[in-house]
Amino acid sequence: MGVNKGKLRSADWFGKSGQDGFIHRSWMKNQGIPHEEFFGKPVIGICNTWSELNPCNAHFRDLAQYVKKGVYQAGGFPLEFPALSLNETMVRPTTMLFRNLASMEVEEMIRANPLDAVVLLCGCDKTTPSLLMGAASVGLPTIVLSGGPMLNGKFKGADIGSGTDLWKLSEDVRSGEFSEADFTEAESCMSRSIGHCNTMGTASTMACMVESLGMALPGNAAIPAADARRRELAHRTGKRIVEMVHEDLHIGKIINKNALENAVMINSAIAGSTNFIIHLTAIARRMGVHLDLADFDKLSNDIPLLLNLMPSGKYLMEDFYYAGGLPAVIKELEGYIHNDALTVNGKTIGENNAAAVCYNRDVIHSVENPLEKESSIAVVRGNLCEDGAVIKVSAATPELLSHRGRAVVFENIEDYHERVDDPNLDIDEKDIMVLKYVGPKGYPGMPEVGNMPLPKKLLKKGVRDMVRISDGRMSGTAFGTVFLHVSPESFIGGNLALVQNGDWIHVDVENRRLDLEVSDAELQERRKKWQPPGHPYNRGYAKQYIDHVEQAHLGADLDFLVGSSGHEVKRESH
Ligand code: FES
Repeated sequence: MGVNKGKLRSADWFGKSGQDGFIHRSWMKNQGIPHEEFFGKPVIGICNTWSELNPCNAHFRDLAQYVKKGVYQAGGFPLEFPALSLNETMVRPTTMLFRNLASMEVEEMIRANPLDAVVLLCGCDKTTPSLLMGAASVGLPTIVLSGGPMLNGKFKGADIGSGTDLWKLSEDVRSGEFSEADFTEAESCMSRSIGHCNTMGTASTMACMVESLGMALPGNAAIPAADARRRELAHRTGKRIVEMVHEDLHIGKIINKNALENAVMINSAIAGSTNFIIHLTAIARRMGVHLDLADFDKLSNDIPLLLNLMPSGKYLMEDFYYAGGLPAVIKELEGYIHNDALTVNGKTIGENNAAAVCYNRDVIHSVENPLEKESSIAVVRGNLCEDGAVIKVSAATPELLSHRGRAVVFENIEDYHERVDDPNLDIDEKDIMVLKYVGPKGYPGMPEVGNMPLPKKLLKKGVRDMVRISDGRMSGTAFGTVFLHVSPESFIGGNLALVQNGDWIHVDVENRRLDLEVSDAELQERRKKWQPPGHPYNRGYAKQYIDHVEQAHLGADLDFLVGSSGHEVKRESH
C-alpha cells in the first residue's frame, strides 16, 4: 500500500523526459516554480478545507502558509489544493449527506495528482472524517493538522460554549426565562475568535480522534486556533510530513486495530461526540480493519470519564489546553491503551505522552478520582434497534436511563415542527418522543435533529429532559437522554417505522436494551400495512447517496467506497 522507499511517486510525473515531462512541468512553471524544484523533492499536497462558507475553517489560508514553511525547511515541495468544505451551521439538508462526497473528491484528488504525501487541514465536524476517509483509501504518508477551537465564549461575565449554550438559551427563550435581546447579544459572544466549536462537540472530538489514532502530532487537539502555538504546530507538521516520505511512514502503518481501539478508549474518557462512532467506523472500513458497535461498547466499558468539558461537564477547549490537553488524558490512560501504537512522529503514543502533566484536576480528572466511573457512550440493542443504537450516557439524565414510557410519535421532521408546541399535544414528561425518517436514506443524510427540543408547555413546567429516540444523529454539543443512530432505520422498514402513539417503550441502559413492548405478531401485522415513504431525490448526488449509503452501524459510507484502491494510476493523461 505504501510508496517504495527511495523512489518518489511524484517522479512518475515531474521526473519524466519528453512530451509527458514537459506537460507536467511547463504549466506548473506559470506559478514561478524553478526547474530544479521538480526533481528529488517530496511533493507534499496540502489538502485545504478553507472556505468563507465554513467559518470554522476560514483561517486555514494563514495556517497553510506555516505548513509550507515547514515543508520547505525540510526540503519538500508543497502544493496546496482545495477540498469540499462543509460547515455544520450552513449546509442543507445536512453536512452528513456530503461527507462521503467530500471523501470521494479528496481520495481521487490525492490519487490523480503527483503527490508523495498529504497534509490534511481539517476543522469543522465533517471536514476531518471526510479527508481522513479519502486519504485512507489511497494509502500515502498522511498527517492531519486540525484548525483548533475558538477561545471561550464570554457572555455577561460567564463562559458560554458553542452549541451547548445555544441549546440551553433557546429553551430558556421558549420557556420565557430569557429575552430575545439577550439571545441576540449572545450570538456575538459565543463565537468571538477564529476556530471551530469550543465545546467537546464533534469538531473537538475529531481533533482528539486524530491525535488518539496517532495521525496528528502530540498536542494537536486542544491548542486554540488563535494561539501562536497552532501556527508553530503547523510548521512542525510541514517539516514532519517530509520526513515521513523518506521513512515511508504511510497511513497503513499507523491506522490499525490497536490505533482504532486507542481512539475508542480515549474518546470514552473525554466524553466525545456520538458522531465519533459513525466516523471512526467508516475510517476503519476504508482501512479494511474490522470495528463494530460491540467493540465501542466493550472497549469503553471500563474507561472512566476524565474530562470535564461541555456538554457533559462545565469547561471548554481553551481550559482543556491550559490543563494539559489530550496528552494529559492519554498519560492518565496508560494503563488501558495500547501504548506501543505508532504515531506520525515515528514514536509510540506511550512515548509521546509519557511526560505529560496535568495542570488542573478539575478539568482533567485522574483515573483514581474520575468525573464519572461509567463509560460516556453506550450501545443498546432490542427490537426497536436490532442492529444497535447509541446514547451519550454522560450527557443524559441518570434517572431516565432506566425508564418505561408511552411513545409520542412524530412521523417525520415536518410533523414534529408542526405539532411539538401544540397546546393540545397529548404528552407529559414521562412520555418518550419518537422521530421517524431521519436516518441515512430517510432524510437523506441523517441530520442532527435527534435531540428534538421539548414541547414548550413542558419547558414552561420546568421539564428540561425527556427520553427521545430517532434514527438521526445529534450535534456533539447537545445533551439529553437521547437515543440515536437507530439501525435499521425507519425508511428501510426497521421496527422504528412501526411504532405507534401510545406504544410502551422500555429503556434499560444498564443492560444495554431498548425495546418496544409490542408483540412480534402485532409488529408483523403492522408491517403488512407499512408503506415506505417516497423522497424527491431522483437525480444527482443525492440519488446516488440514497441508493448506496449503508446503515449507521456500518459507518454510513457509500457501499462502493468501502476499502482502498491504493495510490497507483498507470495510465498517462495524454
Ligand atoms: Fe463548525 Fe461546530 S459548526 S465546528
